[in-house]
This record gives sequence, C-alpha cells and structure tokens, in this order.
Amino acid sequence: MIKKFQFLCKPEVIYGANSISSLPSIVKSLNCKNLLIVVDKTFSKTIFFSDILKILQKENIKFFIFDKIEVEPDTEIGNECGKFAKKNKCDVVCGIGGGSVLDTAKAASILITNDGYIEDYQGLNKVPKPGVPKIMIPTTAGTGSEVTYTAVFIRKDLKRKGGINSPYLYPDYAILDPVLTIPLPPDVTASTGLDAFCHAIESYISRKANFLTEIISLSSMRLIWNNIYKVYIEGEDIKARENMLYGSFLGGIGLANAGVTAVHSMSYPLGGRYGIPHGVGNAMLLPYVLDSDIENDKSFTIKSKFANIIDYVMPQYKDKSEDFKSHLLIKEIKKLNEKLNIPRLRNFNIQFETFNQLAEEALQVQVPIENNPYPITKEHIIQIYKNAY
Ligand SMILES: [Fe+2]
Repeated sequence: MIKKFQFLCKPEVIYGANSISSLPSIVKSLNCKNLLIVVDKTFSKTIFFSDILKILQKENIKFFIFDKIEVEPDTEIGNECGKFAKKNKCDVVCGIGGGSVLDTAKAASILITNDGYIEDYQGLNKVPKPGVPKIMIPTTAGTGSEVTYTAVFIRKDLKRKGGINSPYLYPDYAILDPVLTIPLPPDVTASTGLDAFCHAIESYISRKANFLTEIISLSSMRLIWNNIYKVYIEGEDIKARENMLYGSFLGGIGLANAGVTAVHSMSYPLGGRYGIPHGVGNAMLLPYVLDSDIENDKSFTIKSKFANIIDYVMPQYKDKSEDFKSHLLIKEIKKLNEKLNIPRLRNFNIQFETFNQLAEEALQVQVPIENNPYPITKEHIIQIYKNAY
C-alpha cells in the first residue's frame, strides 16, 4: 500500500539548564516594541519569574504581563488576554507556564492580528491571518504545546472543550529550560507527565503514525517512563527534569504529526463538564483504552505495537511473548498510576448515568476518535468509562 506523510516541527529550539538566559536576545531579534508575557499565576510568584523579568529589564525590553489564567482556561479568559494584548499594542507573545498558559499565549498571538474571538476560530483551519511571533517556555513537562498547532479552550455555554487548530498557531521559538520546571508540585508533575506520556503512546498507536513519528514517540515514552517517578519524589533532580522536558517536547511532535486517539477524546468531556485537569483525565483513562484496543483490534497489529513499546522501554522483558508483553504494558501503566497517586473516576462526583452523555460528547471530539487503532463506538466508550470508574 502506498502511504504519505508530511512532517512539521516549526520552532527554533533552545534547550538546556539556564537556557532562559537567551530570551532577551530572541525578543530583540524580533524587533519587539511591546512584549506580551502570558504567565501561570503560581509561577509568576516564584523567584524564577522575577529573575526572567530582571534579565528583560536589563536589556530595556518593554513588557506587559497577563497572569489571570485558570487551570483549564475558557474562551472568556482567552479573549480577555487577546484584548489586553491589543490594547497594549503587543507585537511579540511569550508564554511561560503549563499548557493552559501556552495555549492562551498562542491564541493571543492570532487575536492581535485577526478581528474575531476565540469562538470564531475553534475548529480546523479557521484562522484567516498569521499571528505575531510566539516564544513558548514550558514550565511543565507537559502538554507539548510549545511544538503543536493547537490551543484548547472550554466553551462555558456549551460545557465543552474546543481547540483552535491552525498552522498559524505553531510557535516560532521554544525554550526548554528544565530549571523552570523545578517549582512544579508533585501532583502536577505526575499528571502533566502522564499527559505527555499519553501523547507519546497515542501518537505511536495512532492510525496516522508513520515510521518517523514512531521513532519519536518511542523515544518520548522511554524518557518519560524512566524519569517520571524520579521527578515525582525528587522535584529538584535536574537531570530527570531535563529528560521529562525533552520527552514531553518529543511527545508534542508525535501529537502534532500523528495525532492522539480515544484517550484524549474521552478526557475532553471530563474537563469540559467536571473541570478534571487534562492530564488527570488522560491518565485515569489510558490503561482502560489500551485494554479495549487489545480486545477490539481485529487487525492484531496493536499487540505487536505494545510489545515494541515494552522492548524499547523495559528491555529486560525482550524475550517474552508478544501476548505477555502487550498485557504487561497495561499492567505497568496501572501500577505507575497508583505509584503517582492518580485518582480514579469514582473519586469525582460523576454518576454512572452520565456515561451515555459523556460518550456522545467524546465521539464529537472527532479527530482523535478517527485515529484510534480500531473503530471505536459509543458502546465501547461507555464500557471504558465504567472500567475506569
Ligand atoms: Fe494532552
């Protein structure tokens, strides 16, 4: 069978401990007059953030700070950020934070140059004009937002999440400085790390995966698998933080080029309806979606993919059978969730009766659903929610 793919990875990447010191020179190279800094509320109170402001001030860079982002941003806050940027005539955008912050910064960049609101652009390729240059500095590892063309916002009126998906959202620069992820508390380290792991594993098993993205997704999984527990128990382990940040970046490349699968579709309504953080929702669902993949994949390719993951991530089991390895993967993910204290669906105020509604909403998050290794139905989805309960 003849297949094709296009591979995209836009940002210039500056990485390593203390690479944040290159921010002023990047801003200057863009002839920036007014810099918009979109920042995480918690991060804005850290010494790390005041140090960033100091290096900008030292170079006489004029900036405006927007620090009102909630955990899962809605369109209202995104539009407010865009308005703030326009009012202050910002011509370069810098996002410093987790996925919510980076997504808001990316959206602000296109709201500066386009007249509408976020709601007008949610969907695929709906943004008419490019935005202003975007510099992304993740402080979590993470959503991979620093390398993707997506920005996700909750529509409060529809109780639903929706993404702006446009090539104009690709960041121009990504600064991957592991030092900036040190203040992240253990629970957020775990949930964001597992979100990144989901990007890697879902892009690996996605129908859109290709021989290039597969290598990237596997590398991402190995980096995250070997380091996530280390950073959970020892947040100042800089080498482990660095590996997590690179793993998350690679997972983001996988996500941007091969997409994600049913885990993300099913997690969206949990965020939209119950405010469950994105990473937590994904982590709770992941092993049960993979169980369902094994059970329902009639092409039998999924087991060999799961076995490949074990070969790459846990090579000590290399000589075991494909069947053994594919089930081992799911068992190990469940164990990891427990070690990282990831809650279960039953820990949230969700009733069994709502699973039907949640499944209908998950099916509307169409692109990841279409990427799923087998054609997943409403009945499958309801069963997965039940199993994850
Ligand atoms: Fe995600």
